[in-house]
Amino acid sequence: MRINRCYNIEDLRQAARRRLPKGIFEYLDRGSEDEVALAHNRAAYDRLKIQTRVLEDLGDLSTDVELLGDASALPLAIAPTGIAGLCSYEGELALAKAATHAGVPFTLATGSITSMEKIAAHAGGGRLWFQLYMWQEESLSYQLIQRAKDAGFEALVVTVDFALGNNREYNQRNGFHIPFKVSPTSVLDVLRHPRWLMSVLGRYLMGPGMPRHENYPAIYQHRIAFGSGQAKPARHSRMTWEDIDRLREFWPGKLIIKGILTAEDAQLAVEHGADGIVVSNHGGRNLDSSVASIDALPEIVAAVGGRTTVLFDSGIRRGSDIVKALALGADSVLVGRATLYGVAAGGQAGAERALNILRSEIRKTMGYAGCTSIADLGPDLIRTWCPRWETEEI
Ligand code: FNR
Repeated sequence: MRINRCYNIEDLRQAARRRLPKGIFEYLDRGSEDEVALAHNRAAYDRLKIQTRVLEDLGDLSTDVELLGDASALPLAIAPTGIAGLCSYEGELALAKAATHAGVPFTLATGSITSMEKIAAHAGGGRLWFQLYMWQEESLSYQLIQRAKDAGFEALVVTVDFALGNNREYNQRNGFHIPFKVSPTSVLDVLRHPRWLMSVLGRYLMGPGMPRHENYPAIYQHRIAFGSGQAKPARHSRMTWEDIDRLREFWPGKLIIKGILTAEDAQLAVEHGADGIVVSNHGGRNLDSSVASIDALPEIVAAVGGRTTVLFDSGIRRGSDIVKALALGADSVLVGRATLYGVAAGGQAGAERALNILRSEIRKTMGYAGCTSIADLGPDLIRTWCPRWETEEI
């Protein structure tokens, strides 16, 4: 399917499904365990209805916002996802350029295939955030943060909802490993997708070589390429709020804590100096029994009372999902899979298509709600669906 025949995020998803090897597509698309959280994220949006208003002058409708002290053309940033570079050749760069073009921030993941220095040099001058997974060997993490500082990243997004890993059994069944590792199942999968083999893996092999985590310390890089030894630095499983204090001292830019789902943790984040938090269940990819992010949002917004910027993600596939999150108090959202489907379907053009679709849907939804600015979106716009509606005449 050509990109200009993709009219919504689901179309881009289907295009991505056709292009990518199964192992990569499922890693991108699926959740964890029984995928209850994944479904629940979506169902939670569907329960929320938007109160319409008519005959409002919509001529000056604008989606501009101030986000962490700077302008953003949409109330949206691209979420960190360590796999864009396997969805298309130098996919992180494609996403970063698409974000620059759309006037929104891009977040580069620790585990990205393209190095942070290359992104900073070639993204076209847009806003860049760097996502951090702390490693057990803290000195390695601080070297990484120093590189992000030197490369001029504006914000550090520290992900805290991944302490002991997750259960994604399909990755084992698919023989999938990130970055790419040679196994009989993965080789067969790749051979079944010659277009991806030529346009993504082939281009790496003809150029920089086997895709690998370019931000990782050099000692880990050759091991990853050949899939032997301990492929990655171990994640920090004993991280506490004291580590956040140390990061706060070390990092001069904006500090965002990602993966908050309770009012208590949101308050602690404020007390420990976070400029922003991301209310997130990691797109339903970690704890399968987690609450839907949108259900956790109102109590968190109430608890922080404007003392920090509230970002929000998980399950966003439509502009109306974004409007609902903003109406419930988020200052902005992050999108993960929506732009990943785009970049897999068509590189930078595909990512831009995803952002344009979301922009258009946000504008239309705002129009139905009679709102001409993001500041107009408030809780009064939201009605919660209740079962009575199905049984009584309204
Ligand atoms: C992620 N996410 C993620 N988050 C993070 O902090 N560091 C990471 O490396 C990754 N990697 C990653 C890979 C893939 C394939 C996905 C889909 C997601 C989570 C991401 O930042 C975000 O929280 C979710 O993607 C939001 O949900 P949606 O928009 O994908 O539904």
